[in-house]
Amino acid sequence: SITHVILTGGVGSRLWPLSRKSQPKQYLDLFDGKSLFEMTVERNHTLVDQVMVVGNIDNHHLSRQVLEKSNTQYIDIVESTPRNTAAAIAFAAFASDPEAILIVTPSDHIIDGMELYEEAIKEAIEKASKGYIVTFGIVPTKPEVGYGYIERKGDNVISFREKPNQDTAKGFIARGNFLWNSGMFCFKAGIFLEELKTFNFEVYEKSKMAWDASINGTLDLELSLLIPSISIDYAVMERSKKIKVVPSKFIWSDLGSFESVYDYMVSKGHAVDQNGNMVIGTDNYTAFVGLKNTIFVHTPTANLILQKEFSQDVKHVYNELEKEN
Ligand code: GDD
Ligand code: MG
Repeated sequence: SITHVILTGGVGSRLWPLSRKSQPKQYLDLFDGKSLFEMTVERNHTLVDQVMVVGNIDNHHLSRQVLEKSNTQYIDIVESTPRNTAAAIAFAAFASDPEAILIVTPSDHIIDGMELYEEAIKEAIEKASKGYIVTFGIVPTKPEVGYGYIERKGDNVISFREKPNQDTAKGFIARGNFLWNSGMFCFKAGIFLEELKTFNFEVYEKSKMAWDASINGTLDLELSLLIPSISIDYAVMERSKKIKVVPSKFIWSDLGSFESVYDYMVSKGHAVDQNGNMVIGTDNYTAFVGLKNTIFVHTPTANLILQKEFSQDVKHVYNELEKEN
């Protein structure tokens, strides 16, 4: 059987104040009155047999609202504390038959081009059923340091490099046979667990202990805190020899920071003034004087004024506010 595993444990700190701990970005009605989480569910529901949500104690009621509204049955895994994606995916795999095929996706991406998406998923399922761990590769457009890079020859993966520095990323782009990792994966539950066990035994073992002590899909807090916090990219993708890539032609955008939101909104015709300034969250007439490439974000309780190049630094504001609370 085929299971769509939705990862929804992140807080989206780089999109503060749109994204809040109580209302992470994937649940905001950003586009056409739909949230990114809702779009993620809809995009996959005809392609799979069941849905599994791995979220956390602060947001699982938000997932439930969406899934109940659309009458979708799902398996709910609730983390008592975030332990990063290697553990989150391990929980989904422990909850599944070892032969079950998991399509693991984040809940905060924009994807356009449904036919191309479906094609890519079908190809991935075929490879996964042969025992491979499948990634989806996106043609890179700039030396972005926030992504993983897949070095490939055809659909074979020569190496996987998570979040290289700027110079390394530039080198990858120049060499031409690197794709961005989209952050979606497809594999048999049992194969993933074998690879995790081989390449990061501690995460495997501690996740198993926390999972075995879970009650109705809710993880034990104290045992969870013992799990090393590491992403699937570092724990498995950089090391496994069973990786294949499906080079994907669908339109993909990770709305991870205001810079990517800006680019996406410009592509959708959202207004910017002649100096590249943008307003998000209010229809009030807003004037920018002497400013360039500035983003003004308004919410009822907080405003952000941001120079676009500093988009990655917004998380520091979020982290400071977290400390105070
Ligand atoms: N359940 C759960 N628990 N989900 C989590 C946790 C956790 O502890 N941590 C992160 N997630 C979810 C996030 O909400 C997101 O949907 C997804 O897992 C990926 O986590 P990110 O934190 O957004 O990862 P990233 O953007 O730094 O990097 C990944 O995605 C890139 C593409 O967007 C990597 O896979 C990169 O290689 C990739 O290029
Ligand atoms: Mg991300």
